[in-house]
Amino acid sequence: MSLLTPPPRLLMGPGPINCYPRVLNAMSTQLVGQYDPVMTGYMNETMSLYRKVFKTENKQTFLIDGTSRAGIEAVLVSIVEPGDKVLVPIFGRFGHLLAEIAERAGAKVHTIEVPWGEVFEPQQIEDAVKQVRPKVVAVVQGDTSTTMLQPLDEIGAICRRYDALFYSDGTASIGGNPFETDLWQLDAVSVGLQKCLGGPSGSAPVTFGERYLDIVNKRRHVEAGIRNNQHVDGQASRIRSNYFDIPMIMDYWGEERLNHHTEASSMLYCARECALQLLEEGIDKSIARHQLVGDAMLAGVKGLNLKPFGDLRHKMTNVVGVYIPEGINGEAIRHTMLHDFNIEIGTSFGPLHGKIWRIGTMGYNARPDAVYQTLQSLETCLRRAGHKLSLGEGVDSAYAVYSGHAL
Ligand SMILES: Cc1ncc(COP(=O)(O)O)c(C=O)c1O
Repeated sequence: MSLLTPPPRLLMGPGPINCYPRVLNAMSTQLVGQYDPVMTGYMNETMSLYRKVFKTENKQTFLIDGTSRAGIEAVLVSIVEPGDKVLVPIFGRFGHLLAEIAERAGAKVHTIEVPWGEVFEPQQIEDAVKQVRPKVVAVVQGDTSTTMLQPLDEIGAICRRYDALFYSDGTASIGGNPFETDLWQLDAVSVGLQKCLGGPSGSAPVTFGERYLDIVNKRRHVEAGIRNNQHVDGQASRIRSNYFDIPMIMDYWGEERLNHHTEASSMLYCARECALQLLEEGIDKSIARHQLVGDAMLAGVKGLNLKPFGDLRHKMTNVVGVYIPEGINGEAIRHTMLHDFNIEIGTSFGPLHGKIWRIGTMGYNARPDAVYQTLQSLETCLRRAGHKLSLGEGVDSAYAVYSGHAL
């Protein structure tokens, strides 16, 4: 085998996307020991940076080692005791994932659904909460499977009225869409790096408020081999996962530095750099950039005589769904885009499989040149496949969106 030489793909799907170069640099930085004060200093800095990313005062803000679903699993397995009720409003594939993970953790899961391409009104969620009286309401913010962004700002108050915890998975949306942990009264949040934060998958930042912690701390149980006679077990049932045991992970990130896992240091470097990049740019500026570039891509696909998918009032800034035109082989176009133009665009899941493509503009790739390159290449593929369009209209329409804006 030879050295790794992956082709220089432009990743314009729903994530993962190309990393910010500074994030790649951070990942290849040399390791230090797990308890080296330099390393624990980086851990503290990472906690503080992600408090800003999440817009929270929560002390317990840190990383779960693993991809985004590791974050989801840690949140849910630590809070759910067998038989607890969890309500999951589902508007796409990742709502099903939350339900699946909660169920495996032993929850009695109740779901409500809207058709893919739509989101919930707060009243629909309130009605369900009133009826089910769940311990936890678990909602995805941006579901890349449908490109829809669920408004979360009213759900926290609903949850407080009915004494439910409010958890959201903001993996696909944070950094490119507004996210307000404290203002929206979220009790737990998990995300990933591989979308608007512009990193690879493999680390899941999380944050927890006091209402969540009051419950999981009652399930505290320090494993044999590291426990001492000062450790007292909580009264509630033991968390069923060791790896995703939030109280033990907090003890590792906290002052006690109790040995749990060996921190995935390269991913921590990387997560730290993603947060720094976002905060140096400014969260509001990053959201505005994703909005503008997303609007340009939307105008561009319309310019190619393609029809966008879903309720556009609730589209995420960073991804657009596009109907595959009648008579066009969607997978053949994706194949040509990838192999002849080095550009990846996304396929879709479930009821949308074979019906739409998903085109992302996020993180490092939320840039005008990436938009033009994608539209120009897609135009060539579509034209050669017999799709009717006006030459140049895709790029021109995108270009017009930028006029008067400085990026
Ligand atoms: C909203 C959302 N949640 C969870 C995931 C799962 O992430 P991972 O594949 O990193 O575990 C994704 C991945 O695309 C996602 O978009």
